[in-house]
Amino acid sequence: MFCPKKALVALLLPPLAVAGPNCPPLGPVYPKPARWRDSPTMQTALDNLAATLTWWDANDSPAVRANTTSYSIEVFSASAEEPLLFSWHHTAKSLAEAGEAAEERRRRNASDVVEGVFAAGPDAVYRLGSLTKVFTVYTWLAQDGDAKWNDPITKYVPELARAVAEGKARQDPVGHVNWEEVTVGALAGQTSGAIRDYGLMGEITQELGRDLAVDLGFPPLNDSDPTLPPCGLWPQCNRTQFFEGLLRAPPSFAASATPAYTNTGYQILAYALEAIKGKSFEEMMHESIFRPLGLKHTYYRNAPASEGIIPGERAESGWDYQLGDENPAGNMYSSVSDLSALGRSILRSTLLPPAVTRRWLKPAAMSSELIAGVGSPWGVRRIVVPYANGKRVVDAFNKAGRIGYYSALLVLLPDYDVGFSVMIAGDEIPGNTNFNLADILGGFLVPALEAAGREQAAARYGGEYADKARNASLRIAAHEDRPGLGIEAWISNGTDMRTVAVVLQSGYSPVDPSVRLYPAGLETVRPDGSRRVAFKAVFEDLNLPARPDSMFSTDCGTWVSFTAVTYGTRPLDQFVFELDPEGRVVSVENLALRAVLKKKQQ
Ligand SMILES: *[C@@H]1O[C@H](CO)[C@@H](O)[C@H](O)[C@H]1NC(C)=O
Ligand SMILES: *[C@@H]1O[C@H](CO)[C@@H](O)[C@H](O)[C@H]1NC(C)=O
Ligand SMILES: *[C@@H]1O[C@H](CO)[C@@H](O)[C@H](O)[C@H]1NC(C)=O
Ligand SMILES: *[C@@H]1O[C@H](CO)[C@@H](O)[C@H](O)[C@H]1NC(C)=O
Ligand SMILES: *[C@@H]1O[C@H](CO)[C@@H](O)[C@H](O)[C@H]1NC(C)=O
Ligand SMILES: *[C@@H]1O[C@H](CO)[C@@H](O)[C@H](O)[C@H]1NC(C)=O
Repeated sequence: MFCPKKALVALLLPPLAVAGPNCPPLGPVYPKPARWRDSPTMQTALDNLAATLTWWDANDSPAVRANTTSYSIEVFSASAEEPLLFSWHHTAKSLAEAGEAAEERRRRNASDVVEGVFAAGPDAVYRLGSLTKVFTVYTWLAQDGDAKWNDPITKYVPELARAVAEGKARQDPVGHVNWEEVTVGALAGQTSGAIRDYGLMGEITQELGRDLAVDLGFPPLNDSDPTLPPCGLWPQCNRTQFFEGLLRAPPSFAASATPAYTNTGYQILAYALEAIKGKSFEEMMHESIFRPLGLKHTYYRNAPASEGIIPGERAESGWDYQLGDENPAGNMYSSVSDLSALGRSILRSTLLPPAVTRRWLKPAAMSSELIAGVGSPWGVRRIVVPYANGKRVVDAFNKAGRIGYYSALLVLLPDYDVGFSVMIAGDEIPGNTNFNLADILGGFLVPALEAAGREQAAARYGGEYADKARNASLRIAAHEDRPGLGIEAWISNGTDMRTVAVVLQSGYSPVDPSVRLYPAGLETVRPDGSRRVAFKAVFEDLNLPARPDSMFSTDCGTWVSFTAVTYGTRPLDQFVFELDPEGRVVSVENLALRAVLKKKQQ
């Protein structure tokens, strides 16, 4: 049983030298600045990024093979004041030369036009490959929300409902997907357990041919073998053929057991949304995404070659190749600036209710890699931002794509409301170019975004707050070695509240109390532009042992302890700042203490 008196006596013990880590909530640890580039740290990071890319481009770095790879990068932010933080456009030597040759041909013969764009730029069109899946889920969410996410897909796809009625999966779960168990969300979140593709990517009979397959050691398949896809690369499968084939394919895993990437899932999602809305999927994407966002260089299929970066031989580049009914999984085309516009709209929730966006930007499953999860259709990376005395994880939501001579990547960092778009085209793109670029971008940007957030939070919120009449005061500052804003001193009616708060919260007396503030993501904006901004405090005893390697014990279980102490229903760990219409902090109120402390203006 907790005895406050005993605990307070124990406070007299001197603090130990060892300090446990500060553990913030998951999510942003600083408010998001409107102008990142005002930060000198950010400016330096962007300069260093530019210097690195300059060197890569000049020296044909093996990371991108810049002689033959063209690429465009944008770092964008959701801030209205500063939507574009950085851009980079590299035109491959080979593409520039192809452009000169095309120009020469046209000079000699005006009707001999080689279509294409021969310089990388914000509006040049590249192919997206699987990055298309972001547009597909976005279309679904904008059209129908996520209320049907837990419905079985059989409700919307009659072919799959019929398969369930036949009962094959019940009799033989090894041989047949139990579609009754597969939800809409499982298809979007890559946990359906269904086959990855049907008749396409990876199907040897389509991609290499049956004779070569036999040379490779596969047994011959006769013409009437029902497992032999009659369609795929060419001719493409129509809906009837797709489902006939799909329903013969064994599951990879049970539904919702483990993430396993499927393209078929996205094709099925499009059929389902068409059934729900009674419109074509392509039409819905135009209606819900392209038109509202004003995307002028984004195409669901058959993009005009005149707008495209087409490296090497057009026939081999994959520019013209269409996926047919599998379009929703990987067919699209876009420009880097349109992709950034898409990213901004997700971060700003312009097309979805904010709560739907928050649900969307979450992992749907973990993965076998400790720092990675899987969303819809996100790959989630958990980035550790190192602090000397704190744990801090930033979740990045990305989607990559690769098709023909193209590669693409979209990364969203909701903790900063910043993201990056990467488009790549080349006939010798190294396999990992999109992520090589992301590693470089993230390596420079994430620490700088964190530092810029801290600098600007310190400038805005840091300082002394007081209510002399109540003998109450508060001192706030940021610290380079810890996440969030620190409350360095906190007096209420003459009492040291840092100690009281940690004692009440932890149920024993702390020897090294710490109180740090983190944005709660709650803001009340008044018509005159003034705001109330809520922060959540974490009360910690830093003298607890660090437990980096324990199996169950943790030194970072902060989420369990929020609002654990209330006074007259009001949380002791909730601080609300009052900001004037110009964004200056005027005062702070601790909700439990019910006192408004005015900020001392410098
Ligand atoms: C890339 O281009 C540079 C400059 O023209 C040239 O010196 C270099 O040899 C090229 N690299 C390769 C691998 O072709
Ligand atoms: C000019 O180019 C067009 C299109 O490629 C071709 O059909 C035509 O024969 C060319 N004319 C001459 C004179 O080469
Ligand atoms: C073709 O293969 C299928 C499946 O292995 C088999 O059932 C069928 O008898 C074969 N037909 C001929 C003509 O060999
Ligand atoms: C799909 O193609 C097959 C074979 O050409 C044809 O028999 C069938 O009618 C087609 N189905 C649809 C829905 O077009
Ligand atoms: C301050 O504490 C004294 C008792 O020590 C109490 O009488 C008084 O009401 C308190 N004032 C405020 C504003 O909390
Ligand atoms: C305010 O509190 C401090 C202790 O923090 C005390 O020394 C001081 O006398 C108090 N002042 C008043 C006016 O109560």
